[in-house]
Amino acid sequence: MKIGAAFALLSSLVSTALAVSFIVPGAVWSDTSGTKIQAHGGHVIKVGSTFYWLGYSNAAGIRPNIYTSTDLMNWTHFGIASTAVSAMYRPKFVSSGGKWYIWGQVNREIVTLVAPGSTPLSTAYTLTGSPQLLPPDARSFSDMGVFVDDNGSNYFLSSADSNNFQLNNINPTTPITIGTRVADIGAAMEAPGMFKSTGGVYYLIMSQKTGWRPDPDKVYWATSLAGPWQGGTDIAPESVNTYNSQNSAELVIKGTSTTSYIYLGDAWDSTGSDASNYEWLPIVVSDSAHTATLQNFAMWTVNPSTGVVTSTGFANTTFHAADGIVGGSAGKALYSPRVIVLRFPSIQVVNKRAVHNINSSSNVTFTNVVGRGEKQWVSFQYTVSNVIAGEAHVSVNGGPAINLSELNSRAGALFDGAGCADA
Ligand SMILES: *[C@@H]1O[C@H](CO)[C@@H](O)[C@H](O)[C@H]1NC(C)=O
Ligand SMILES: *[C@@H]1O[C@H](CO)[C@@H](O)[C@H](O)[C@H]1NC(C)=O
Ligand SMILES: *[C@@H]1O[C@H](CO)[C@@H](O)[C@H](O)[C@H]1NC(C)=O
Ligand SMILES: *[C@@H]1O[C@H](CO)[C@@H](O)[C@H](O)[C@H]1NC(C)=O
Ligand SMILES: *[C@@H]1O[C@H](CO)[C@@H](O)[C@H](O)[C@H]1NC(C)=O
Ligand SMILES: *[C@@H]1O[C@H](CO)[C@@H](O)[C@H](O)[C@H]1NC(C)=O
Repeated sequence: MKIGAAFALLSSLVSTALAVSFIVPGAVWSDTSGTKIQAHGGHVIKVGSTFYWLGYSNAAGIRPNIYTSTDLMNWTHFGIASTAVSAMYRPKFVSSGGKWYIWGQVNREIVTLVAPGSTPLSTAYTLTGSPQLLPPDARSFSDMGVFVDDNGSNYFLSSADSNNFQLNNINPTTPITIGTRVADIGAAMEAPGMFKSTGGVYYLIMSQKTGWRPDPDKVYWATSLAGPWQGGTDIAPESVNTYNSQNSAELVIKGTSTTSYIYLGDAWDSTGSDASNYEWLPIVVSDSAHTATLQNFAMWTVNPSTGVVTSTGFANTTFHAADGIVGGSAGKALYSPRVIVLRFPSIQVVNKRAVHNINSSSNVTFTNVVGRGEKQWVSFQYTVSNVIAGEAHVSVNGGPAINLSELNSRAGALFDGAGCADA
């Protein structure tokens, strides 16, 4: 984060029910029991009318973790798929020969788990086959992905063989194995994900190699998996570093009205810990220009039946610190039934629109916030040069102060706006 010319709080007030009713890219995302979702480096598949989100949980020993949903917003924790492995990164489901497999990366080898029954939902996956390296030269690989073509054939995507992207067949054997190479496009990229448009164009999205730090992900395209692969265009403006995320996988929603393409990214923290979040955004595809571009929605929904993506449009109100009521050592406090209190310990902002010398015994109160008389999502966007000094606490209507520093730069939280309807 870097310092802004003036401190500005953009408070976005959106009506919502208590349940999760939209996707908020980059924010902390909780499951239906209220626990933060831990499904990093994963992907989402649909079987019947249910979506399955598979990813890894650091807290569970970097083991594959499964969630289910019918609306892509409310996710119910199913459980850890297997205790037979640990330190398995980027797990992916593969369905083949009536069996469900989880492939994941352990020590730069592919390790295969198989479900006991005919459903991907199991906490009793067992190890099968042998750990695999990539043919033909057994060099190590990283950041695996999978792709299922329209005819049901499965493909393995990886950064391999001196860190170049490589596309391989997956042999439909029992258990599945990595097959021959289909394409090697010579791009030193990682974290590949792929989808096919309704126009028959394959799009491949990959990040550059910058560790946990986000970079501008790129898009390649081809009309045949064997290539030629072209492109390398930006999926988002370079300056935003894929909205602070790295590709993990893509999801296609074939609805009754339209087909939507969804980017499933990881918003890693500096160490890839469980504090990392998810950046899910719709992709606008142009088969004539051969581009795929992220739509930067602050909040959005997708109807899993119709496929229609909707930005939950919101009106921004900007509150400048200097327009707030300054309490404590920096001024006289004023309280009313509807206030947002902000505390910025030790921050000093040098701008005439800013309030100076606010510390932990002072605060700024805004009383002109219009509420909707129900629980509302309030998002905060702020820039600060020193994360410790800029630690911010927010309290609405005298409620408990929420430590914004524990969220992230695109975070928001539900606040009780009751009583604000007439404001
Ligand atoms: C999420 O689940 C809750 C509780 O089951 C439900 O009330 C709500 O409508 C769901 N949200 C959506 C968008 O379906
Ligand atoms: C799917 O299509 C590809 C490309 O033509 C082909 O190589 C593959 O064998 C097909 N798979 C099936 C199951 O027909
Ligand atoms: C709200 O602010 C964000 C961030 O500046 C901007 O991208 C978005 O377009 C704004 N929305 C509206 C409705 O003005
Ligand atoms: C705001 O500052 C005043 C004066 O120090 C203090 O009495 C009040 O408790 C503070 N409010 C919050 C929510 O911290
Ligand atoms: C906050 O600043 C005031 C005025 O400079 C000072 O008197 C007070 O001790 C400071 N409080 C803290 C907790 O630093
Ligand atoms: C607020 O969160 C930050 C980041 O997790 C943490 O360092 C800090 O101690 C927290 N502050 C309080 C008062 O809990």
